[in-house]
Amino acid sequence: MTSTGRDSRLPSRIDAQVLENRSEGGNNHRLVLSVPDWPGAEPGQFIMLSAGARAAVERSDPLLPRPMAVYRGHAPAAEPAAGRVEVLYRVSGRGTQLISEALPGQRLRVVGPLGRGFPEVESDASAVLVGGGTGVASLYELAARAVARARTTVVLGARTAADLMGRDDFAGLDIDLQITTEDGSSGLRGLVTDALAPLLRRVSRPSSTTVYACGPTPMMRACAELAESHAVRCLVSLENNMACGFGVCLGCAVPARRGGFALVCQSGPVFDSNDVRWQDLP
Ligand SMILES: Cc1cc2nc3c(=O)[nH]c(=O)nc-3n(C[C@H](O)[C@H](O)[C@H](O)COP(=O)(O)OP(=O)(O)OC[C@H]3O[C@@H](n4cnc5c(N)ncnc54)[C@H](O)[C@@H]3O)c2cc1C
Ligand code: FES
Repeated sequence: MTSTGRDSRLPSRIDAQVLENRSEGGNNHRLVLSVPDWPGAEPGQFIMLSAGARAAVERSDPLLPRPMAVYRGHAPAAEPAAGRVEVLYRVSGRGTQLISEALPGQRLRVVGPLGRGFPEVESDASAVLVGGGTGVASLYELAARAVARARTTVVLGARTAADLMGRDDFAGLDIDLQITTEDGSSGLRGLVTDALAPLLRRVSRPSSTTVYACGPTPMMRACAELAESHAVRCLVSLENNMACGFGVCLGCAVPARRGGFALVCQSGPVFDSNDVRWQDLP
């Protein structure tokens, strides 16, 4: 597959200190880490985060770290201070439950930044960002940078208002923000595609418009199909399960349109939607 973004920064393996780790309602949490020697990240890049605080004995239950988008904190650490990296996450299983139990002062292992993020939004273009569920976390920095260069619309969706991630942060940006919830408890009742479809119908310059989508696979597939039907480019950030995060376990392989497979952790997580063989994804 064609690489979409940049991966100029070498990943580091760092013991980060928890500064804050708090519930934001529902199962959503915000983790703020102090990361020494943080090399910085590009929008869409991610870290592998140890599943729980590190004690004197190495944790082995669960053994594997969990991939998390760098939500905010893309600037490199300025010596002698450590970088401040934010993660928005949803407790969905044992790993994220253990992460939610890490207390301020405790340490989490961070490996990153990893993957290829989003390419820079072109100036004078139109950017339509679509985030569903935890996919919202991969889009904040892209939106924050896009506003200075392009007409930026952000659609955030979740099952209910309580599940929405990062809404207040996005509302603080100079963007056109649209909310959808499946139960109608906030914004438009329905799916993110119910907001995306009319936006795409109004596009006057398809060649300078790009949809950036991150969320559950069916959502990204639907966004890709909608964009294609309007001759608009679509970039997706895939959220496959990952064991290593840097090309060793082959557990994140995704079927490629041109044949074969691509590793989401190395060639992605951001791909041009035309490069993904959607019909062969679970
Ligand atoms: C590049 C990337 C960035 C991500 N960024 C974020 C983020 O910023 N915030 C966030 O909350 N989550 C994010 N995720 C998803 C997150 O990694 C998983 O939710 C997490 O690994 C689940 O671990 P667990 O041990 O709690 O749950 P598990 O016990 O491993 O699984 C619990 C449930 O979650 C499902 N699940 C597991 N992994 C994923 C996944 N990758 N995508 C969708 N469903 C999954 C399982 O199928 C199962 O139903 C990201 C994933 C990737 C690949
Ligand atoms: S997560 Fe191990 S190869 Fe991609």
